[in-house]
Amino acid sequence: LHAGAVDQSRNLYSPTQSIGSADRASANGHRGAVLWLTGLSGSGKSTLAVSAEHRLFQRGRQVVVLDGDTLRQGLNSDLGFSPEARAENIRRTAEVAKLLAETGLIVFVSLISPWQADREKARRIVGENFAEIYVQADIETCKSRDPKGLYKKALQGEIKNFTGIDQPYEAPEEPDLTIDTTALTEEQALQQLLDLVDRLCALN
Ligand code: PPS
Repeated sequence: LHAGAVDQSRNLYSPTQSIGSADRASANGHRGAVLWLTGLSGSGKSTLAVSAEHRLFQRGRQVVVLDGDTLRQGLNSDLGFSPEARAENIRRTAEVAKLLAETGLIVFVSLISPWQADREKARRIVGENFAEIYVQADIETCKSRDPKGLYKKALQGEIKNFTGIDQPYEAPEEPDLTIDTTALTEEQALQQLLDLVDRLCALN
């Protein structure tokens, strides 16, 4: 292996990749990509990501979901919900998503990621083949869905820094796709996401 200097000032080197993304893409029959799903708790991010994962897996695609709740039980178990902790959560997740996409996977990231600046940073980290998807549902709908009972707890003051209650959610300014889960059926929402994946991951 030939080591190429990437950051000489810090004596950091990375080995030349023996298998490049193009080789992996042609072996898989599709390119890797990161589909970054942002939205309020209860907007439907995880449901959509997992449904898309199943559908694509059935079609023989290489696919994985990185879910905020799951990552926070391992890799990000040291992080809370302050703005700084969320920024670090997003940074780490973007780095992992980038590695996985480079190995040819279609990566769905399901994170509230409430701030535009953090999502822009995620896009910069991942580089090419990144799409920001706004899973849209208004706060009243999310409160009434309340699948985990978290809004109830937040409104009672049992959870602090809860997105949409006592911390803001910045809707994406220019998302690559908006999926309004209050107006679409689950199947329609899923189709919108799968169409985007087809466009992003098609071999040229
Ligand atoms: S973030 O903003 O991207 O860092 O958040 P994320 O990693 O996606 O974690 C969100 C899930 O954590 C649970 N939870 C909270 N969410 C928001 N605010 C507060 N304070 C909070 N505390 C716990 C909750 O289950 C979120 O999952 P989802 O799937 O979004 O409901």
